[in-house]
Amino acid sequence: MKVIAFNGSPRKKWNTALLLEKALEGATAAGAETELIHLYDLNYKGCISCFACKKKEGRSYGKCAVADDLKPVFNKVEGADALIFGSPVYIGDVTGEMRSFLERLVFQYLTYTDPPDSMFKRQIKMGFIYTMGVTEEGMKQIGYPRFMDMISMFMTRTLGPLEALCSFDTLQFDDYSKYVATRFDPEQKAKRRREVFPMDCQKAYDMGQRLIKG
Ligand SMILES: Cc1cc2nc3c(=O)[nH]c(=O)nc-3n(C[C@H](O)[C@H](O)[C@H](O)COP(=O)(O)O)c2cc1C
Repeated sequence: MKVIAFNGSPRKKWNTALLLEKALEGATAAGAETELIHLYDLNYKGCISCFACKKKEGRSYGKCAVADDLKPVFNKVEGADALIFGSPVYIGDVTGEMRSFLERLVFQYLTYTDPPDSMFKRQIKMGFIYTMGVTEEGMKQIGYPRFMDMISMFMTRTLGPLEALCSFDTLQFDDYSKYVATRFDPEQKAKRRREVFPMDCQKAYDMGQRLIKG
């Protein structure tokens, strides 16, 4: 079993990356082979609307035709048994890098038929880890579940079932005293990091195991 995780944060050792590492630890413990790909290390853009993936009898029908750093990544996806995505919330959505990646990943498989179908010819299990500065109540009030549901809908339609995990009220800086950030209470942030983040890590680990064991 092969599991690939995609880090949509520019930071390689912070909240999102740590949770993805935990999820992969869980998958490894369940017997999977794993790989973590940092999207910010790759050169690519979002979908360029060339429609080569939809062209009748086209050479690239059902496959993204753009030859950039995502091409080998998409080849790996074809052979994977589970995928785990991780993104911080940036301005009320996933990061630009994750967004561009999802456009390219999903759109190549989505058919413009009625009803819509998928050219990805099997079902793959997926997890999505979102990290964010707001509290759980805050995220509901602002309405983040809407964009998360939209991502789930498109991904389920094309690739397979997806479960989501949210880590709220994350620690953003090592030292809050160095930044203008009076909205946050550094002690409360440190306490949450000590007491709640480890539980989020455990949830990520369990998710990784579940994706392999079922
Ligand atoms: C550019 C930028 C925009 C952000 N926008 C939001 C936001 O809209 N809502 C939110 O809850 N947190 C927001 N945050 C906070 C991050 O989502 C949060 O700190 C996240 O856990 C960072 O992930 P990382 O530690 O893996 O980089 C933002 C952070 C940055 C840098």
